[in-house]
Amino acid sequence: MTPDLLEEGARRIQAHAGKVEQGKTESGGRAAGFSRPAAAPGVVDTTHGRILYLEDVSVSFDGFKAINKLSLDIAPGELRCIIGPNGAGKTTMMDIITGKTRPDEGTVFFGSTIDLLRYKEAEIAQMGIGRKFQKPTVFEQLTVFENLELALKTHKGVAASMFFRLDSAQGDRLAEILHTIHLADSVTRMAGNLSHGQKQWLEIGMLLMQDPKLLLLDEPVAGMTDEETARTAELFLTLKGQHSLMVVEHDMSFIRTISEIVTVLCDGSVLAQGTLDQVQADERVIEVYLGR
Ligand SMILES: Nc1ncnc2c1ncn2[C@@H]1O[C@H](COP(=O)(O)OP(=O)(O)O)[C@@H](O)[C@H]1O
Ligand SMILES: [Mg+2]
Repeated sequence: MTPDLLEEGARRIQAHAGKVEQGKTESGGRAAGFSRPAAAPGVVDTTHGRILYLEDVSVSFDGFKAINKLSLDIAPGELRCIIGPNGAGKTTMMDIITGKTRPDEGTVFFGSTIDLLRYKEAEIAQMGIGRKFQKPTVFEQLTVFENLELALKTHKGVAASMFFRLDSAQGDRLAEILHTIHLADSVTRMAGNLSHGQKQWLEIGMLLMQDPKLLLLDEPVAGMTDEETARTAELFLTLKGQHSLMVVEHDMSFIRTISEIVTVLCDGSVLAQGTLDQVQADERVIEVYLGR
């Protein structure tokens, strides 16, 4: 639904407020959302308990199988940690989910109805899958505020962005996100003057402005100080539940703080999965990853 339609709807609701008896609607008592189709465009159907579903996904680069019959799923609101040695295919998996790389075979679904392999990278981002690359990519010459505002504009497309102004709901949202990413005191600072950790938070904030349903984060605490890492753990714990998160990291104490289920990737497929204690005790995991 476009902001125009939302505004129009809000105006109509306001116009009728007071005219309708408590508990009844204009249409005679039916719930306001009665006419909404079960799987409207933009609605991710998670009634089957999964927001992301990969089955038997494979991709080769010059004959080398970077992803090899990979199967994995994530529940709505889950914070899933992914660990594994360098070259295991963690980043390639994110490339596949976000439409950057096409797999040779396999199934990739967003909810139970959206076949991600049918969509382009930009369309997938629009549908609500946000991705954070390893290096922060904020606009250094812009302030913290401007970066967040821009994230909303660009998400709405170029044409819309020319006439874009924050409405009050979006302004509230921006303020809330500033608080969440610990940058409420730095609104007018140039992004280029932030610490590495703050830049990472700002980029996460830019993703949050687009209200993604699923967030993919590739080594988010690499290069952070211990304190920044601890605050990032807090941040992720507040995001989980409202969003689903997939976090690739090597920092085991960070993983310990945030993790529920940990998936160990190796040679392009799942080697082990369970709590951190379970996978850390797994001989195969120790051999390929932890024991080094
Ligand atoms: N675009 C590409 N072209 C060729 N090889 C690639 C490409 N992307 C990844 N690879 C290879 O696939 C393997 C998995 O890489 P990657 O997904 O980056 O691993 P990880 O993120 O787990 O360290 C590596 O051997 C890497 O060199
Ligand atoms: Mg990687």
